[in-house]
Amino acid sequence: MRPNKQELIEMLRVSGEDELQELYKRAYEVKKAYVGTKVYFRGIIELSNICSKNCYYCGIRSGNPDFKRYTISIDEALSEAKWCYGQHYGSLVIQAGERRDDFWTNYVSELIRGIKELSDGKLGITLSLGEQSEDVYQRWFEDGAHRYLLRIETSDRELYKSLHPADHSFEYRKSCLKLLRKVGYQVGTGIMVGLPGQSLESIADDILFFYDEDFDMLGMGPYIPHHGTPLAHLREGFDSAAALTMGLKLISACRIALKDINIATTTALQALHPEGRELGLLAGANVLMPNITDTKYRDDYQLYEGKPCLNENADQCIGCLARRIAAIGETIGFDEWGDSKHFYKRTEKQKTAKGR
Ligand code: 5AD
Ligand code: SF4
Ligand code: FES
Repeated sequence: MRPNKQELIEMLRVSGEDELQELYKRAYEVKKAYVGTKVYFRGIIELSNICSKNCYYCGIRSGNPDFKRYTISIDEALSEAKWCYGQHYGSLVIQAGERRDDFWTNYVSELIRGIKELSDGKLGITLSLGEQSEDVYQRWFEDGAHRYLLRIETSDRELYKSLHPADHSFEYRKSCLKLLRKVGYQVGTGIMVGLPGQSLESIADDILFFYDEDFDMLGMGPYIPHHGTPLAHLREGFDSAAALTMGLKLISACRIALKDINIATTTALQALHPEGRELGLLAGANVLMPNITDTKYRDDYQLYEGKPCLNENADQCIGCLARRIAAIGETIGFDEWGDSKHFYKRTEKQKTAKGR
């Protein structure tokens, strides 16, 4: 059933500790019933911080000259993937700034094929590499990637325009989500919450957009102002507790409204609170993406401020995370892809419809 917009707004408006806990609990019950309490890990490799775009909110935008640009070599990336495989992570995510040149698209192809080879096809691969052409999406899919994350950031066209330079096309971004679907990926999207000029009504519309477009996965987080951006002035008066709460309410509202999709508890939550990611799981998320990028690169991949684990390597994080997950009574889905249940239901429905 299509979620009711007014009810979504009410959920996003909840305040007061008791009411908030009630909302999170309600979402947790839905999570238990529809997807269970296993947390799926996707090790995330931040492959490169080179980006051709200039989004006004993002710390690695091309217009920020304040740090070194890097691209991890194929060998290094493969050894990170091997580590992931050895740790029994079911999947990994390859994330980077957006680039569309041939060198880059070939580089990614080579890496995807290499990862499939070293893991005997077993490591699931999610890509988070921005807007590309249909041909490139198709090629990477054939190379072995099977999930793709592309956040819409906001489904409100005017708000989108206010946060991006004129040559960043909202329409093309939307069409990319359709192309990914057409190629056959499990498709994830998401928004930032707490953007300047964003209303609760607009966030409720985002959730309806997720429902209408039938996405399989969501990755969402609070917007956190970064000093090297045109929105740096928003750091003054930034209320990290309120931003965290808004991020958690959004997860809960999405879980309650959309039920069987995969929802990530994002690092941005942990940037705002030491237990931010556990709180995300308790508010309804079921996927966690530990950073496995070598620490020597982590300083240079700061999309927002206060990113955690800048000095902890992957080995340290894994022990820490295992304790954190156990502490909230959940288990980790080792060696499983942990695909979105929604994806299977959706594809089953399609098959049935085709068979008719
Ligand atoms: N605060 C929070 N999230 C951000 N992102 C980019 N900049 C910020 C920021 N300042 C998010 C965007 C992008 C994802 C990779 O990181 O939603 O899609
Ligand atoms: Fe590039 Fe993504 Fe940052 Fe925009 S949000 S500048 S596309 S890395
Ligand atoms: Fe990185 Fe705890 S998750 S050190």
